[in-house]
Amino acid sequence: MASQVLVAANRGPLSYALSDDGTLSARRGGGGLVSGLSAALAKQPDALWICAALSDADREAVRRGTSEPGVRMLDIDPAVYDGAYNGIANSVLWFTHHHLYDVPREPVFDAAFRRHWDAYVSYNRAFAEALAEEAAEGARVLVQDYHLALVPGQLRELRPDLRIAHFTHTPWASQEFMEMLPEDIRGQLVWGMLGADQLGFHAWRWSVNFIVGSNREDATGIAESSLPSGVPERGVWHYRAAADGRGFERKRFTEVRQYPLGVDADDLRALAHRPVVDDRLAALRAEVAGRRTIVRVDRTELSKNILRGLLAYRELLVTHPEWRERVVHLASAYPSRQDLAVYRAYTDAVRELAAEINEEFGTADWQPVLVSVEDDFARSLAAYRMADVALVNPVRDGMNLVAKEIPVVSEEGCALVLSTGAGAHEELKGDAITVNPYDVTATAEALHEALSMPREERAERTKRLAAAATALPPAAWFEAQLAALAGA
Ligand code: G6P
Repeated sequence: MASQVLVAANRGPLSYALSDDGTLSARRGGGGLVSGLSAALAKQPDALWICAALSDADREAVRRGTSEPGVRMLDIDPAVYDGAYNGIANSVLWFTHHHLYDVPREPVFDAAFRRHWDAYVSYNRAFAEALAEEAAEGARVLVQDYHLALVPGQLRELRPDLRIAHFTHTPWASQEFMEMLPEDIRGQLVWGMLGADQLGFHAWRWSVNFIVGSNREDATGIAESSLPSGVPERGVWHYRAAADGRGFERKRFTEVRQYPLGVDADDLRALAHRPVVDDRLAALRAEVAGRRTIVRVDRTELSKNILRGLLAYRELLVTHPEWRERVVHLASAYPSRQDLAVYRAYTDAVRELAAEINEEFGTADWQPVLVSVEDDFARSLAAYRMADVALVNPVRDGMNLVAKEIPVVSEEGCALVLSTGAGAHEELKGDAITVNPYDVTATAEALHEALSMPREERAERTKRLAAAATALPPAAWFEAQLAALAGA
């Protein structure tokens, strides 16, 4: 039966693992997109989620017809998938939007890049075709993230009757970084995005970057656009850009809006109080032995700035030796994108730096840093519950849900050290301790301030942080986009 509401995202709610005896088991995927969308779609029983098979095990699941209700996994040729996901989405678009290039060496746009780009175009087309096939007349389609930036344009050509939205979970690059991309590629990206009726971003800053960067006739062929002068600091803000030519009717408008994704307090608290989390909490408490805790939870992701976080912790132990033996830094990282050499090297560097700190300061009964690189959501939730300080210091991050989750499940109040580079900073800055993510000394001082914060103040701030964090829970975030799309 054709669907009225469809979502397209590279990652589906589950991915499969194949054991030696040939049985398939399903696992929840990591990252903010999956947690937000899964929670939102739990309340949309008729929606269809189209995603890619990410691994051989996923492809095997598709071939065996194993599937979850409401999910269609696309079996895309592995070489095409690799070019699109590793070659373009994660090595070029992710790096561009997060400003991650090591500029004397990167980026390099050569023949290999062009081959990967062709793969990216076909991978996007596979999604556009599946959506065109599954969507009912006039259906609403919500396309997710930088993996699928071309889908709105491609889908509009196939199915002009549909209402199409695109949501970006990452930051949007500043104009200087967008202009690193070859002009024709930049033009295709903006063309793809402007195929949508509505573009959503987590934060005001990212919408502004999109508008400024796409407001360039040379690359995009946008003939008419207007950057409003009095842009409000927060809230929903409409901007209309008209895509002229390039396969669309003249003067079709695209709205740009912000939907800052939050967390669902009831769902998260229920997850955080399952017996398996209680067990992890007891184990962590035994390890920490009554000391204060600085908690961080990330993917093994370059933009999360885990290394500078460790450097700041080391500096704290030097400049404020009174904290030695009295604090433990719990750093959990979910393995992510380990197909890319630069991610493997980064993960190794995190482990090495943590080991150096333990070597330098550790004593017979105190290990200053406990690093865990594993996919253990229950352990992360346990760490959230017991955190005295949360360290969230990404160089750039679309939103960062960890900054919103910790205050919601914190048991005794938790001081939040938060980077200005996180989208969440727009909403949480009033009660967080703000840091420049590159400033290690300032981060060390912020950790000291957070550890020294009086208990009562911590509890008060945590309450207000939790209120801000739950202002737009996933179901409302999703429904707001659907409603705006119906009116588009
Ligand atoms: C970020 C992106 C998501 C992505 C997630 C995990 O949150 O915005 O689109 O799914 O990271 O990354 P992965 O490459 O493992 O899907």
